[in-house]
Amino acid sequence: MGLYDDFWPDTGEPWEYAKKERKEIIMAKVAVVYWSGTGNTETMAASVAEGVKEKGGQVFLMTCGEFDASMMDSYDAIAFGCPSMGSEQLEESEFEPMFDSCKSSLKDKRIALFGSHGWGSGEWMQSWEDTCREEGAVLVCDSVICNEAPDEEGLENCKALGGALA
Ligand SMILES: Cc1cc2nc3c(=O)[nH]c(=O)nc-3n(C[C@H](O)[C@H](O)[C@H](O)COP(=O)(O)O)c2cc1C
Repeated sequence: MGLYDDFWPDTGEPWEYAKKERKEIIMAKVAVVYWSGTGNTETMAASVAEGVKEKGGQVFLMTCGEFDASMMDSYDAIAFGCPSMGSEQLEESEFEPMFDSCKSSLKDKRIALFGSHGWGSGEWMQSWEDTCREEGAVLVCDSVICNEAPDEEGLENCKALGGALA
């Protein structure tokens, strides 16, 4: 048995207790909340989650149907993912109502945005970012946009986005 097997070295706390407490303090809880119709944004969300884990964060990956405004304060940071739908808009039937209900809790919240699009110029993401800033959210990094299915570079960018939130 080594010198530090039983006690945390600098405080002398029992090791198992200190390890558990410190882990809870150190690990950021990050939610990844997305909507995806044909799987492109879902693939991005999986890479975002991977990035959180790689940086030592605790990740909670869920669809927008599994998330609601009452859960906003349960996470240190949130990645929101939604493709461009309608005409350069967020998906209107599930994602947008969920996101609208979260708006009042966005102030000072650390968030990041991602999503896939098709033929457009990324206008939906621009207006989504504007809305988040107006609500006082802290966008911790550039949003990640992929054209249809994400390529390798897109997936790496998604991982980096997750890492920035962890
Ligand atoms: C009803 C509908 C509306 C769309 N509107 C836009 C749009 O305004 N601008 C754009 O760039 N892409 C648009 N797209 C393309 C999607 O954003 C694109 O296919 C994306 O990869 C879908 O992501 P998902 O697989 O996560 O659902 C639209 C697709 C659908 C089905």
